[in-house]
Amino acid sequence: MKPEIIVTGKIFQPTQDALDQSFTCHKLYETADRAAFLRQHAPKVRALATFGSSGADAALMDQLPKLELISNFGVGVDAIDLAAAAKRNIIVTHTPDVLNDCVADTAMALVLNTLRRIPQSESYLRASQWGTRGAYPLTTSLGGKTLGVLGLGRIGEAIAKRAEAFGMKIRYHNRSRKPVAWPYEPNAVSLAKNSDVLLIAAPGGAETLHIVNAAVLDALGPKGHVVNIARGSLIDEAALLRYLREGKIAGAGLDVFDNEPKINPAWFALENAVLLPHVGSATMETRTAMGNLQVENLRLHFAGKPVKTPVK
Ligand code: 8YV
Repeated sequence: MKPEIIVTGKIFQPTQDALDQSFTCHKLYETADRAAFLRQHAPKVRALATFGSSGADAALMDQLPKLELISNFGVGVDAIDLAAAAKRNIIVTHTPDVLNDCVADTAMALVLNTLRRIPQSESYLRASQWGTRGAYPLTTSLGGKTLGVLGLGRIGEAIAKRAEAFGMKIRYHNRSRKPVAWPYEPNAVSLAKNSDVLLIAAPGGAETLHIVNAAVLDALGPKGHVVNIARGSLIDEAALLRYLREGKIAGAGLDVFDNEPKINPAWFALENAVLLPHVGSATMETRTAMGNLQVENLRLHFAGKPVKTPVK
């Protein structure tokens, strides 16, 4: 008998295929009647396969008396109630490291596109304005500028190394100081004050909610840019929209938003923002590696072995 699991969100298809080989999968995201679905499957379900924002809150866990493991596709576990899981000794796993390079590449792409306004200049060409209005307005160089990394974890560090290769200087703020040569800033305001580009790479969740607020944007100033590769929740989105509209900061590059994927349409009108649909880790190679790790954690657990990448 295969162990029964609930899949909370639509997962990368090869990962779903791999899950189907080893587990009986009940797809929560396909059901119209959640209560009936849970009444039917809850008594037997021993694990959850979660996906990004389709996580697991305490109410869901409470309905699953046999729940032993939550295996997340993704490194960020802000959509999983870790305290509720810990209370019941439910193991939580995620997919760190395998996505560092890909997410760091996307972050640098956003820095480049935001400062150099590559998408905007391409739109200018496509709208035949080059031939009629002349050259596209000058933009901002990366070289010599300071990248302030907010959250110097595995991904933040991969971004900092790439930015150095572009001739950028690095400063950082993190919950704790790291054994690195880059200068440490004690808080987000001082980091923004001493940076040209504020790069957000810290985990989401209550601890970092709106850590980038109006005071931080004021410190960044009208020539500053903000790039977010982490979670929308880290930025006070209403403040950022206002500051971009009023030219109180120069530009923003965002891969993540509040209320994804149904984001605030106010974003669409902003000429000084580069917007991506949460594609930080979205390559075949990286999603394959993430899926393999998610499935491996589940298989190890049900083989009676320790999981490979528990959330620490
Ligand atoms: C994924 C992510 O897109 O790893 C994360 O935390 O945000 C992304 O890599 C997400 O987990 C799946 O939607």
